[in-house]
Amino acid sequence: MIGIIGAMSVEVENLIAVMTDKSTQTISEVVYYSGKIENIDCVVAKCGVGKVASAICAQTMILNYHPGAVINVGVAGGIGENIHIGDIVVSSGLVQHDMDTTAIGDEKGLISGLNIVIVPASSRLVDLVVSTAKQIYGQGVHVGVIATGDQFISSGDRLKEIAREFGASACEMEGGSIAQVCYINHVDFVVIRAISDNANEAANIDFAAFAISSAHKTAELIMKILPSI
Ligand code: ADE
Repeated sequence: MIGIIGAMSVEVENLIAVMTDKSTQTISEVVYYSGKIENIDCVVAKCGVGKVASAICAQTMILNYHPGAVINVGVAGGIGENIHIGDIVVSSGLVQHDMDTTAIGDEKGLISGLNIVIVPASSRLVDLVVSTAKQIYGQGVHVGVIATGDQFISSGDRLKEIAREFGASACEMEGGSIAQVCYINHVDFVVIRAISDNANEAANIDFAAFAISSAHKTAELIMKILPSI
């Protein structure tokens, strides 16, 4: 069973549309669609935006469906001059950029308890996603740290800060919390994001223009990956 989580409808709607043998279960207001995609058993959920909503969804999915791997799909703001709208960023690891206990002597982004800043994604899944994405798209496929926080980033200054502190290639609002939940449950995960904006002052306009096409791109990629997972 493969778990697939997206924050918004556009990020999961095409996956739900092609699912066969579909059944649904609603838990804590999230609908879990289980069935087959490309003949692989999957559970797909739209978790809602942000770290709390996505953590609730990931934990609930793991406890109820026992997925062997969890994939977080959707859009992100690109960080860095070589990351363009429409590009794919596959997570080497996830950081929560708004986790900050530096005032009591910790490293920025440290997840207390786990004692790590970056939660590593499954290298097997990263390699599989990257090789499939390169086969389909050729260029514009990147592997890097993805930075998560409860903020839509739309400022060059904030963006540069996240890049400097964590060397991140993309920013979004759910991957880091899903990563933390998977990590403590010993479930393999990877985050696959297509860039909808560059997290700068034009991010709101670009997001409105490109979120749908970029979100659909990650769903298309998932369908190509599933048979080899
Ligand atoms: N998701 C897509 N674009 C984003 C941005 N600029 N900040 C946070 N999450 C995003």
